[in-house]
Amino acid sequence: LASLKMSLRNGLRQFPDFPSPGILFEDIMPIFASHTLHTSLIRALELQIADVFHTAIGEKSEIDVVVGLESRGFLFGPTLALRLGAGFVPVRKRGKLPGDCATETFKKEYGEDVFQVQSDAIQKGQKVIVVDDIIATGGSAAAAGNLVRKLGGNLVGYVFMMELDFLKGREKLDAPVHTLLSGQEEKLDLPL
Ligand code: PRP
Ligand code: MG
Repeated sequence: LASLKMSLRNGLRQFPDFPSPGILFEDIMPIFASHTLHTSLIRALELQIADVFHTAIGEKSEIDVVVGLESRGFLFGPTLALRLGAGFVPVRKRGKLPGDCATETFKKEYGEDVFQVQSDAIQKGQKVIVVDDIIATGGSAAAAGNLVRKLGGNLVGYVFMMELDFLKGREKLDAPVHTLLSGQEEKLDLPL
């Protein structure tokens, strides 16, 4: 367990002043570049989800839909959906999805952004988890949760690879929040 935690942690790189001055950017891509780390990440996430949401792995589970947020939530959302026996639904930035869409505007660090989901992608009452790489201010995740509920989905919770907990983003979310890594201390919360 200790070595798994350390290897995932060591798969992250920090880039100061990216994409703009004063921002310390957490780069998750080395995890995906390594087959070993990628495997560990998916395993850790599916075990945590199975644990906290009391669901099965590798078959039809209690979770109907995994919602991933453009674009880094697309890196592992579909894989998790396959492992959980759930569907995958993308939340995309405005103007990318055809057909009738639900729309939600939210605040970013600089200015506003707009998320959309296709209106028929989630059925009323389906159990949904929202996944993304990082929760910072929580604006993106809160908007995605609102979209799930606009479609009548049952938002059972959020799962993130990493939380920048000093930004208190989870306070914006009104469903259970679970994260593997904390962006502040060397604190980890892996159920392994
Ligand atoms: C980043 C990150 C999260 C979001 C977190 O995405 O991947 O989705 O910001 O920020 P918040 O909690 O303050 O809303 P970004 O919008 O930079 O786009 P990307 O995923 O396409 O790289
Ligand atoms: Mg993102």
